[in-house]
Amino acid sequence: MDIIMSSKKPEVNIEYFGQQSRFYNFFETIVDDLLHGKGIYAETNSGSNCNAYMYAKKGYKVITNDISEYSFSVANAIMSNNIPVNFACKYDWLEQYSDSYIKRASVFASVVELYGYNAEIPSELNSNLKNKIDEYIKYFTNINSKNVKAYKIYNEDLFCYLKKLYKDNIKVDIMFMDFAWPWRDGSKTEEYNTTANIYSNVFEPSKFKNIEIWDKNNVIDNVIKAVKEAKKVSRYVLLSNQSSNYPTPELLEVALLKNNLNYEIRHTMLTNAEYEDNLGKETFFREYLYVIRGDVDD
Ligand SMILES: C[S@@+](CC[C@H](N)C(=O)[O-])C[C@H]1O[C@@H](n2cnc3c(N)ncnc32)[C@H](O)[C@@H]1O
Repeated sequence: MDIIMSSKKPEVNIEYFGQQSRFYNFFETIVDDLLHGKGIYAETNSGSNCNAYMYAKKGYKVITNDISEYSFSVANAIMSNNIPVNFACKYDWLEQYSDSYIKRASVFASVVELYGYNAEIPSELNSNLKNKIDEYIKYFTNINSKNVKAYKIYNEDLFCYLKKLYKDNIKVDIMFMDFAWPWRDGSKTEEYNTTANIYSNVFEPSKFKNIEIWDKNNVIDNVIKAVKEAKKVSRYVLLSNQSSNYPTPELLEVALLKNNLNYEIRHTMLTNAEYEDNLGKETFFREYLYVIRGDVDD
């Protein structure tokens, strides 16, 4: 499939860097064609969880994962009734928002909306921020009330997560991988340092040391390693890449080929970036989605 579509807002639309809202309908068609409405749809880097929510709502069993506490809080806020069990608030004011994932997610989303994608968590609460958090609490509460539930929600480094699935003998029909890709010039994307590192250990005790954000020097090796691990637990691996990223499609495809990771189909879609980010870095993107057969049989 090679199409041009104009972006449409997804149902769950929050401030999250890298949210793939523009490809929402494109992915929907590809997954539906492979799974015909049934099966387990999993992700390694769920980010905003807007895709995961869409598939859960359509009736797929959904497994989310992201190393970020922000992403993990959103997944729980919109797709579970789970209650936090770990507490270690970075600042005193966070305590009043720590006892539910809806409140935690609202703090993160509000900070990003008010102060930008690379913002630190403020050490004190002000009235502006408080009002924004209240708005988000209503927003997430409303989504949660629709009773769309995830099957499992993880908060792991993606390699640990894939190992866990393998060890626990959890097999999935689709593993969707949208990594924290570097920019086209090969430099790491600082915004993912914020989601992966700055937005971890805000409400919970320290779980990870400094998470390495991929750049030109290690991205290809990590992608190859991750796809190989994902194949072990998946019927199909869907690898997502964008024209604004490094490696370019040509470099990535050669690397896949050299590692015997031959994709069966390459879907592409061109669209405007209106809902992608508000950094003004790109006006148009091409999304690449590679369908790779996993080791799990039909
Ligand atoms: C491109 S974004 C995913 C966006 C998502 N597809 C969406 O539509 O919102 C990449 C995500 O990878 C996460 N991440 C970065 N390093 C990670 C790691 N080692 N393991 C798991 N997640 C990681 C970041 O926190 C970020 O949420």
